[in-house]
Amino acid sequence: MAHLQLEHVTKRFGRLEAVKDLTLSIQDGEFFCILGPPGAGKTTTLRLIVGLEKPEEGQVYIDSEPVNDVYPGRRDIAMVFQNLALYPNKTVFENIAYPLRERKLPNDEITRQVNDVAKTLHIDRMLDRKPAKLSGGERQRVAIGRAIVRHPRAYLMDEPLANLDAKLRQEMRVELKRLQKELGQTLVYVTHDQIEALSMADRIAILHKGVLQQVDTPDNIYHLPANRFVATVVGSPPMNFLPCRVSQQNGYLNLSHQKFGFRAAGEQHPLRHNLSRHGLLPETVLLGIRPEDIAIFDQKPSDSAVAGQVLVVEPLGSETILDIELGSDLVKAVIPPTQKISEEQVVWFEFNPAKLHVLDNKSGTRLYSSSKEQPLPAI
Ligand SMILES: Nc1ncnc2c1ncn2[C@@H]1O[C@H](COP(=O)(O)OP(=O)(O)OP(=O)(O)O)[C@@H](O)[C@H]1O
Ligand SMILES: [Mg+2]
Repeated sequence: MAHLQLEHVTKRFGRLEAVKDLTLSIQDGEFFCILGPPGAGKTTTLRLIVGLEKPEEGQVYIDSEPVNDVYPGRRDIAMVFQNLALYPNKTVFENIAYPLRERKLPNDEITRQVNDVAKTLHIDRMLDRKPAKLSGGERQRVAIGRAIVRHPRAYLMDEPLANLDAKLRQEMRVELKRLQKELGQTLVYVTHDQIEALSMADRIAILHKGVLQQVDTPDNIYHLPANRFVATVVGSPPMNFLPCRVSQQNGYLNLSHQKFGFRAAGEQHPLRHNLSRHGLLPETVLLGIRPEDIAIFDQKPSDSAVAGQVLVVEPLGSETILDIELGSDLVKAVIPPTQKISEEQVVWFEFNPAKLHVLDNKSGTRLYSSSKEQPLPAI
């Protein structure tokens, strides 16, 4: 069992700051994902926790004990690496047994423990085989088995499913989640796949160029992204961003795009409050809306509906993605496959007034999100 903590940790390679002033607190028993694009500092973060890198600044704690000067072997944390390395000349049994042999456990105890782990991972029928005779998914299980058999205080896994095909990844996602619940131990799981993070994690940390963007539940990461980067990393296709002018009229605060607008009534509206946080109202903001929060109609459904021309129709089986021209912007919308829309057709769309986000035009920070209780009506 382990509570893992990083306090203001910075790791440099020469002049490059791979991890910048990172503070994270990973709870005991938590399935914690670190999500970010290549080069974000994900692997470096794991290596700092396990002790393969030492921070230039800050402190790493395991169960409140400062461990910057504790060797990896004494930290008792198992890591499954990005490019998993099995011993090619050893059988599956011996690959899993390796950490136990190093501890000089008696043979019958090793046999019992390896068999237990192999059963849990459904690889008990292939214990005599060499890694070359296994599929990618089976090899992955062996690597995980070798980590589990040690009964460490916590597990770190670096993109363990990256080399598997889509179907196998999906199966392994479900199994890993089950396994983690069964073991009840802290797991830090690195991925650049948003689906893996959203579907498995208790909480997700999003890294970009070594800087932490947000730590939150999958639900909040998706519905209340801290900034434009987070809103783009999670969700497929990503959120649309449309520039809007900010103005005031008769007690209303208006957000106006070339083709549509929204307004908030009253001096006390939280949108007004959040936009004027730094004194003056900004001249422009970005309106964020997810493709699935846009409804598409082939005839004008209401006075507030907006017209646009469809440029691309992309059928994906379970849904269809549309690229629609709206003034000088391009908007992506998702519709059910049963709705038939063709390219070059003019369609009408309505934004869900309870799913609108308002972001700072320069920094990309999210300033406000509408909700069911407080929708932003169209002008
Ligand atoms: N040993 C090293 N020496 C020099 N630079 C390094 C070293 N290790 C990592 N870096 C750099 O630090 C940054 C973060 O690397 P890191 O491996 O942590 O990224 P990552 O998020 O794991 O990326 P990926 O998704 O590609 O695995 C990158 O710019 C990388 O080039
Ligand atoms: Mg990496």
